[in-house]
This record gives sequence, C-alpha cells and structure tokens, in this order.
Amino acid sequence: MEASYKNNAPIGLFDSGVGGLSVYLHLAQQMPAERYVYYADTLHVPYGNRDSEEIEALTLTAVKWLYQQGCKLIVIACNSASAYALETARRCYPQLPIVGLVPALKPAVGASKSGHVAVLATKATLNGALLNQVIEDIASPSGTKVTKYFDPQLVPWVESGMSETSDAAQRLREQIQSFALAGVDYLVLGCTHYPFFKDFLIDEIAAQQLSIKVVDSGQAIAARVHSLLTERSILAQSIENYEIHPLVFYASKYDESLYTVVARLLSTEIKIRYLY
Ligand code: DGL
Repeated sequence: MEASYKNNAPIGLFDSGVGGLSVYLHLAQQMPAERYVYYADTLHVPYGNRDSEEIEALTLTAVKWLYQQGCKLIVIACNSASAYALETARRCYPQLPIVGLVPALKPAVGASKSGHVAVLATKATLNGALLNQVIEDIASPSGTKVTKYFDPQLVPWVESGMSETSDAAQRLREQIQSFALAGVDYLVLGCTHYPFFKDFLIDEIAAQQLSIKVVDSGQAIAARVHSLLTERSILAQSIENYEIHPLVFYASKYDESLYTVVARLLSTEIKIRYLY
C-alpha cells in the first residue's frame, strides 16, 4: 500500500509532567521510525490530587492541542488523566485512535502466586473507574487481594531528580518491606512517573532479599500502539530507510530545571518548546 501523509504524521503523547516519557521510551524503542510530539502540562502538574472534572478538562485541552498538531494517534500517557478523560476524548474524536493507561493489574493478578498484589498510583487513579473495574472484573473473582498505596511525594520526587537520600526514597524502602510482610508478591507501578524508579525498587528488593516482582504498562502500551497503526496501515516508513526524528517536547510552563530533568530521564539532549 502506498504511504499516505498519515504515515509520516506524529504520534502524540500527553502527561501532566515528565512521567509519560517512560511510555515514550518504550514506543521509541519499538517504533524508532515514528515522529513523536510530547505535551507536558507542567503548569498544572501534579494531576493526582485534582478532582475528576478538573482532570477531564485539562486532559481534553491537551488532546485537542495534539489533535490540532495533526497527530495520527494519541497516547494519554498518564493513568490519572486516562481514568477521568479517556472515554470523553474518544467520543470527541471518534476517528482518532486514542490509547489510555490503566495500571497493569490484570497481568499481575494472573501471575501472582500469593494472591496479594499492591498498586502504587495517584489518588485519582486509585479512585478512578478504570482501575476499580479491573479489580471488580479480574482481581475479586480470582480471590486476589489488592492493596492500594499512594504517596503524594512520589511524583515530585521523580520531577526533582530522585535523590536516594530523600524521605520519599526512605519511605519506599520501608514500604516494600511492609508489602513483603503482608504477602504481596507483585507490585504494580500505576503512574507513568514511577517506572523511572523501577531500577531503584528492584535493587532495594534484592538488597532486602524480598520476593516481589515489579510491573508497569509501558511495553504493553507500545505493543497496542504498534498494532493499531498496523491495522490502519499508518505505521511510519519501514525500518530499512528510516531516519530518527528527535522528540519534540512541549511544556505549558517555563521552568529552567525542566531541561536537565528531561535530558537525564531520556539520557539524551532535547529541545523544549514552551506553550504559554
Ligand atoms: N503521570 C501521571 C499518572 O500516570 C500522574 C502524575 C500526576 O499526579 O500528575 O498518573
């Protein structure tokens, strides 16, 4: 099939801050020929403590902006935003494939041997319909206990560089120990900021000799995006002659430290553009 303009159109990603970059890394690895536009609503981060109407309105503004940039597919790379705006966004743009994030509870329940898993997420995600539907449809019928855990300092900890000597790091060390004592064997990272401290958790779990596995949704989301683009024949040109397009990163508020945070999380230099 001949490539249409849509094959070269960008994939849009949206998060309240830098967390969605953890999803972008999976997408870029699985689909390096694609162009990506990222919108970080740094003016309103964090979303996790906001009420549902506010989260929905902010998310719809971001989705509209990405749509206006000509994106061929949009990933709402934020569990909190997906929980309150995914359905409405899909209704507003019925022709546009929109992928949302929900904590990877389903695979964790399937793999858990102890029958007890924990979900780390924002308050908004933990209270939202998407996660609670998975608990009702998958976890409860299988008799799996789900412990919800929220620490308001985790998103700011990631946004500020994740110092291992901070209180947030210390609380995580103690928390994984309590999870292990309670019999939790799977820990679901239900916020897109959290995979950035997945290695820290895995190292701590090993150091404390605990048997807990840590899962997130990044890989599955990239596979879903790939299959949607394939179904619609709008994947970017084939791998033999692709050219890498640098990520275009937009933020809704100027912040002089943002460049350093993004460059460190992506391990590459990047250009940030501001929308205000
Ligand atoms: N990264 C977002 C998520 O996946 C939340 C961060 C926030 O609270 O703004 O839920």
